[in-house]
Amino acid sequence: MFKKIITVSFVFIILINNYLRADEGMWIPLLLQKYNIEDMQKKGFKLTAEDIYSINKASMKDAVMIFGGGCTAELISDKGLIITNHHCGFSQIQDHSSLEHDYLTDGFWAKTPKDELRNPGLTVTFLVSMEDVTNQVLAGVEDDGEEGVRQKMIAQNIEKIVAQAIKGTHFQGEVKSFFYGNQYFLFVQEEYKDVRLVGAPPSAIGKFGGDTDNWMWPRHTGDFSLFRIYADKDNKPAEYSEENVPYKPKKHFSISVKGVQPDDFTMVFGYPGSTEQYLTSYAVDMIQNKINPYRIEIRQNIIDIMLEDMEKNPAVRIQYADKHASVSNAWKKWIGENNGLERLDAVNVKKQREAALTQWINQEDSRQQLYSYILPEFEKIYADYAQYSFAEEYFFEAVWRMESVKMAGRMKYLIEKGSEFTTEDVDKIRNSAKSFFKDYNIETDKKIFKALLSLYLKNVDTKFQPDFTKFIKSKYLPLTESEKLDEYVDYYFEKSFFLHEDKLMAFFDTYAKADYKKLENAPAYLFYKNFVNMYVTQIMPVVKSYDEKITNLNRFYMRALTMADTSKVFYPDANFTLRVTYGKVADYEPRDGVRYKHYTTLDGIIEKDNPDIYDYRVPQRLKDLYSAREYGIYAENGELHTCFIGTNHTTGGNSGSPVLNANGELIGVNFDRCWEGTMSDIMYDPAQCRNIALDIRYALFLIDKFAGAGYLLDEMSIVK
Ligand code: ARG
Ligand code: ASP
Repeated sequence: MFKKIITVSFVFIILINNYLRADEGMWIPLLLQKYNIEDMQKKGFKLTAEDIYSINKASMKDAVMIFGGGCTAELISDKGLIITNHHCGFSQIQDHSSLEHDYLTDGFWAKTPKDELRNPGLTVTFLVSMEDVTNQVLAGVEDDGEEGVRQKMIAQNIEKIVAQAIKGTHFQGEVKSFFYGNQYFLFVQEEYKDVRLVGAPPSAIGKFGGDTDNWMWPRHTGDFSLFRIYADKDNKPAEYSEENVPYKPKKHFSISVKGVQPDDFTMVFGYPGSTEQYLTSYAVDMIQNKINPYRIEIRQNIIDIMLEDMEKNPAVRIQYADKHASVSNAWKKWIGENNGLERLDAVNVKKQREAALTQWINQEDSRQQLYSYILPEFEKIYADYAQYSFAEEYFFEAVWRMESVKMAGRMKYLIEKGSEFTTEDVDKIRNSAKSFFKDYNIETDKKIFKALLSLYLKNVDTKFQPDFTKFIKSKYLPLTESEKLDEYVDYYFEKSFFLHEDKLMAFFDTYAKADYKKLENAPAYLFYKNFVNMYVTQIMPVVKSYDEKITNLNRFYMRALTMADTSKVFYPDANFTLRVTYGKVADYEPRDGVRYKHYTTLDGIIEKDNPDIYDYRVPQRLKDLYSAREYGIYAENGELHTCFIGTNHTTGGNSGSPVLNANGELIGVNFDRCWEGTMSDIMYDPAQCRNIALDIRYALFLIDKFAGAGYLLDEMSIVK
């Protein structure tokens, strides 16, 4: 049925540059010259594509890095100083904090290089070069071949390409798919492993507004932290050593204190993680109406229980602060995303686009042969796939979030060793258990377990539930009866001795040959094992096979979309590779009759100040500086700007990204999006989608006036 398509190295992006485009898009740095630079310059950008990405001279890309596993950072001095978000450096700041040195509460500022703190495991990754390797990746791969077979060959080709690219160097290599497997790029990267903490404001500034203000505008978060990259004598990456010296970058950003005006050109250069701009109406419908509402409900349950316990007990507040923040971050985003999709009528908009595409396909026989099967096939697949996808999401959101289940997962290692364990094996699990218990409150877990299990029983089809009679005594069944559920949960938590630190540690102290059986028979382990088994047999294989089909269809669908609209320049979905997004400083109207300004000021922090609300406690020193209006060169018309918004199309991973002005100078650090626009991962709306940036002048003010760490400013290049 499939017709072979002749051209493999298909040209995706058709150049029409004589009109101004909307600010949507996450663009490939290598292709700016071809597709974007003219448009960028029309919108005010004063530099060239070579200034952004070049392999012949130092360019902006040499000043931007992946920070840790999922953020962006940028260089702001010729001595390896980098800036990223507070929430990106949070776990490092937390790691260095103790009761005596509570850097989370008090902030941290290294007075001299010797005071900078090392962070085992933290890396920053530079892009050395990128290259279109589509032809090599698809060499010998049948365009209409079976997807599983294709993927295997592609993986083999990629392995060769990467090996060849990094041969004889200390670089890393990676090939990533763009436009659903229609294009492939090779990325050569250089990873630095000695990255030290230089400074961070107190959480009351760096996390100001906390989860209350998260994803929202107006925003006043001083969301930044400073680190320094260290290198060996030859400026090459090296493991931590006292001999290491500050990294000498090819390029660092100058910082502008001139501020921003509405309509000013802005560019964000960083690592957006993942978006889904080209989903069909069937997929959007599934996410919006089937998946998101349940994800939100599950997390709402977790959050309510956590908050209740955190409010009652300060120890639990500390234990669950980070867990709460991470559960609530996506929860709040999904709510915003669904509101946005609804407002845009996204499913119907997609349907209209699909109808137009179908019309285009039907105009010619050759098109019909190539593409007419795609949309009906999608429809058929999603009609069945949705229930499996739902079950998978539910499994990961509910079962996999139960802490007792996570703990049971840790026990698996010893159980698999059986009687053939070593003392190191036991110590390994003992240590991992200790770190688990540090942030564990069994009463909270028990409540969450009960809530999530009842949701699972209520909302998930019985064919995606394990056979409870196999591992739960009949006196507790059926679990759908609330008294039986209560009894089972009591039993589960009491008898799963590995959920009790004292019992588990005592057990490890005398651990002997047959003891793994006691772990194996604990109710939490049986629960874990049977649920995982159900997932692996009932859900995973079906999801995998549908995913393969969808991957295959998407490749042809994407081609049809681009062929049908040659006046449009398409951009690839985010895939955690370096991208440029450009737009302008702009206010917006979240609702009828309401207009939000494009910036916030310190006045707003003082307005929000409320000692009774944890997220709104303003440090006294900041209040004093406010009273004295000691803003120095960082003020604008007597005000101190804290954050601003723009139309740059960003997503998770863009946190910490440099926000640059028309001259390529740093004016802000990206850290979030406005709630009304969080559907931008699926559908971008120029009227409502705004990225939120920390105004760099607020960061400089905090370093200089609040922290008294003005010596750090001496190494920066500040443009007045
Ligand atoms: N919403 C931002 C992002 O997705 C900030 C998250 C960190 N802050 C928080 N309160 N959880 O990363
Ligand atoms: N806060 C996100 C991040 O950490 C950015 C976003 O989703 O807009 O990357």
